[in-house]
Amino acid sequence: ASDAGTDLDHVLFTEAQIHDRLQELGDRIWADYKDKDLLLVGVLKGAVLVMADLMRTLPGSAPMDWMAVSSYGSGTKSSGVVRILKDLDTDISGKHVLIVEDIIDSGLTLNWIRSNLLSRDPASLEICTLLRKPDAAKVAIDCRYVGFDIPNEFVVGYGLDYDERYRNLRDIGTLAPHVYS
Ligand code: PRP
Ligand code: MN
Ligand code: MG
Repeated sequence: ASDAGTDLDHVLFTEAQIHDRLQELGDRIWADYKDKDLLLVGVLKGAVLVMADLMRTLPGSAPMDWMAVSSYGSGTKSSGVVRILKDLDTDISGKHVLIVEDIIDSGLTLNWIRSNLLSRDPASLEICTLLRKPDAAKVAIDCRYVGFDIPNEFVVGYGLDYDERYRNLRDIGTLAPHVYS
């Protein structure tokens, strides 16, 4: 364990700002899907907290399912080739699928997941991400619900990790340089 208080450089979004924004997105999502068979699909593990809080902004209930993926091979994401570590439990054909993510960075992960899920014949497929880094995009992702666009900085907290740590931070922020060295 480590002291997140000294490891964080500056806060980008507080817990309250995140929750307010998720409420706005949840209101839009409910208006768009209230008469449809909505299935929320989270991407493990980063999206765990976004899913938990976003789904609780909804005035009604919708089922959720989860997928876990990993970059193929040596941990580099640059190829955009992904393998499934845990597939969905449910058949999404005919469902209105909304993918829930914490962040779109290069876009390669979601680009792959999107085409994989599209091949399963959902009634519709849209994306909701809390964060997006426009300057880091290697592939354009059509994303209907975006919480915040952020600069191309490494951020942690609220599900986002550095080497599997800091996911539990309530705010989202950048790490101090000493953490990397
Ligand atoms: C992170 C993040 C997104 C993805 C975005 O997941 O949660 O899923 O990277 O990056 P990209 O747009 O460049 O593909 P990660 O692979 O670190 O796994 P995690 O969710 O378990 O942290
Ligand atoms: Mn992730
Ligand atoms: Mg990660």
